[in-house]
Amino acid sequence: MGNSPGIKMDKFIIEGGKSLRGDVYISGAKNAALPLMVASLLAPGRTVLKNVPLLNDVLFLEKVLQHLGVKTHHENHTLVLDVPDTFHTEAPYDLVRKMRASIYVLGPMLARMKKACVSIPGGCTIGTRPIDLHLKGMERLGARITTEHGYIKARTKKLAGGEVFLSGTFGPSVGATCNVMMAAVLAQGTTIIREASQEPEVAELALFLNRMGAKITGIGSKTLTITGVNQLCPTEYSVIPDRIEAGTFITAAAITRGKVSVHNCQAAHLRAVIDKLKETGLPLQCEGNTIHVDATNYIPEPVDITTSAYPGFPTDMQAQMTSLLCFARGVSHVRDTIYPERFIHIQELLRMGANIQMADNMAAVTGVKKLSGAPVMASDLRASATLVLAALAARGESAILRIYHIDRGYEKIEEKLQKLGARIQRQQ
Ligand code: EPZ
Repeated sequence: MGNSPGIKMDKFIIEGGKSLRGDVYISGAKNAALPLMVASLLAPGRTVLKNVPLLNDVLFLEKVLQHLGVKTHHENHTLVLDVPDTFHTEAPYDLVRKMRASIYVLGPMLARMKKACVSIPGGCTIGTRPIDLHLKGMERLGARITTEHGYIKARTKKLAGGEVFLSGTFGPSVGATCNVMMAAVLAQGTTIIREASQEPEVAELALFLNRMGAKITGIGSKTLTITGVNQLCPTEYSVIPDRIEAGTFITAAAITRGKVSVHNCQAAHLRAVIDKLKETGLPLQCEGNTIHVDATNYIPEPVDITTSAYPGFPTDMQAQMTSLLCFARGVSHVRDTIYPERFIHIQELLRMGANIQMADNMAAVTGVKKLSGAPVMASDLRASATLVLAALAARGESAILRIYHIDRGYEKIEEKLQKLGARIQRQQ
């Protein structure tokens, strides 16, 4: 596959075998920042978001919002969004294909402008990524929706509150819950979202909307009740720490038998991951916003992992844990109920000497004494992070190609790892 225009084909060169030591500071959460950025469309004026991670996904979404007429500028990790009284209501394929979460603009477009024309986002390596629950929610609130030529065309006279059941074949939907919530806050009457996603990032969006003047109750539960209001006001908000980045760095300390303190993280958002890591025997201490890991004498015990919606074990940490379990004293079993095919990283781990058998969408991981460095290919955001973890623990040198995937969701990951003593270099 040729190089996509504008995407640099950088790679990481990693010399493995070094235990990580020291302190790492977690950035703001990508999956919290993205919906907050889109929610700014719901109120003309200046929205200020703090602790926004500097990531390609954030920059891609900024381009979408700029295309709609929003003026944005960054001052370090503060993002200022100036939203006009009216904004364009078309999100073209060329922008949406780069940033799936652009589909979030559907709700605010219908709520504020009563119409929308949004490209249907493509699939990706972790699954087909359908949006049927997003569309079901919008129709339940009174939008008329057609799909033609790869676009969703939606119109409404005025959104009206209704009852929406938002769980699909694979459970609740983060994106659909965010989208329907953003449509419902300005709808006439009350909306009840049943089987809503309970992810912390969804709760943060609800808290942000309430600060703008929305009336949402049941935040963090499976049932959200939204009483529509006539208008919202722009506000300031700070993005929560990225629980998946924190989990990734805790796993990096574990897999390299290091001693690391992970700062700026909320242990409460990582309960399932912390619980599972403790089950492997990892010594870790939670102290305020810091998680201390001391893996100097640690060899993981095998465990079984089945991902599920929050507060269950997060699918976005499944691949990272799989790389750790490659070193366990026995056989572990990993199943992903959210993205059953999210195992593209396995092929690359096998090339590094892992012993993993796949059957019926379940990975049986038999621990080995060592992995050996190798050239490997990144394929999606979390699979890329997994290959970095495996390379850090492997013997010898690894080259990880197509690391633009990792730049979408991890801010300055090589600098953070270098500060912990990792031998990692980015090469053009
Ligand atoms: C969000 O994606 C995250 N992305 C994903 O993180 C995360 O893996 C996912 O939630 C699950 O936790 C952002 O927040 C930007 P879903 P989203 O709708 O909202 C199916 C990362 O690495 N589904 O909760 O797209 C879907 O196929 C990314 O940061 C439908 O069937 O996920 C999946 O199997 C990767 N119909 C399940 O539901 C729909 O209309 C959960 O998807 C929508 C989703």
